Amino acid sequence: MAEFLKICEVGPRDGLQNEAAAVATADKQKLLDALLAAGLKYIELTSFVSAKAVPQMADAEQMMPYARSAYPEAHFNALIINEKGYERALQAGAQGVGVVVVVSETLSQRNSRMSVAESLAACKAIVTRARNDGVFARVYLAVAWVCPFEGPTPPEKVLACADAVWEMGVDELALADTIGHAQPLEVGRLVEACGKRYDMSKLAVHLHDTQALGLANAAAAISAGVRIVDASVGGLGGCPFAPGSLGNLATEDVVFMAHKMGFATGVAMNRLWEAVRCAEPLVGRRVGGRIREWWEKNAGKS
Ligand code: COA
Ligand code: ZN
Repeated sequence: MAEFLKICEVGPRDGLQNEAAAVATADKQKLLDALLAAGLKYIELTSFVSAKAVPQMADAEQMMPYARSAYPEAHFNALIINEKGYERALQAGAQGVGVVVVVSETLSQRNSRMSVAESLAACKAIVTRARNDGVFARVYLAVAWVCPFEGPTPPEKVLACADAVWEMGVDELALADTIGHAQPLEVGRLVEACGKRYDMSKLAVHLHDTQALGLANAAAAISAGVRIVDASVGGLGGCPFAPGSLGNLATEDVVFMAHKMGFATGVAMNRLWEAVRCAEPLVGRRVGGRIREWWEKNAGKS
């Protein structure tokens, strides 16, 4: 039986959070329906953060109950950065939370108005609560390779944060290339170093395709043993607080590559295009990963 590669779809959150024009809640729900129909069932649905900071996610309280009641068999995570967000997520019925710890001081201040140490302490308090509440706890280490303000992130800095996070007893630890400036050899090295210290099956990578290296970075992470990869339908995405952050690694690209490598993902490529087409009017432009052109010309014949 083919080995399973878990695709965590972050389009509804990371994909849409940076869009300037408000996307209607009903349209987000249609996109979600298309994603689920394609077989994606690990979804980062929304974020419970300040609506002033990220207006696009102001409907988190509507999205989570919709998703939970429409798709009881799927798993929905919500991104949070503080305990207020945790409480809102729990109240709305989230099964899991993704807590962000930014590894560089400058971006940590800009994104969450906390130092790295404060952010780790806040994260620990949230993870402790999540474990007591039976809530799935993922922690993101943002700018794990490159920070838009501080440049390359020293691996020992990432590993020190990762050690602290691992000790909290997290369910998943996601190394994030927040602005998409990492390169495959460094991605492989950091994943390997983490795999030696922690349980590789709980390690995820969150990649952006800013410099067209998203897929190469994913391949490097998979070669080094990672089996959880974040992706966003159509390659939507970006972070409003990290200048230069462009689209996420496209779900269709990583699913196509995973199948070609012999992994099972549970995702049907044919159905994925419906989700890509559903995303387009929401953002008012053509979207789609690098595989789209080939796929459309060849109609998925291979
Ligand atoms: N949900 C809703 N509102 C929240 C909130 C949350 N989780 N956390 C803080 N707020 C609100 C507060 O109620 C307060 O509102 P007010 O101005 O109407 O009183 C305001 O945000 C500031 O709160 P404060 O506790 O003083 O926070 P801060 O100014 O130290 O930090 C952040 C503000 C960081 C909470 C806010 O900028 C934020 O939520 N950023 C989101 C970052 C993000 O999503 N990044 C993208 C993904 S990494
Ligand atoms: Zn991201």
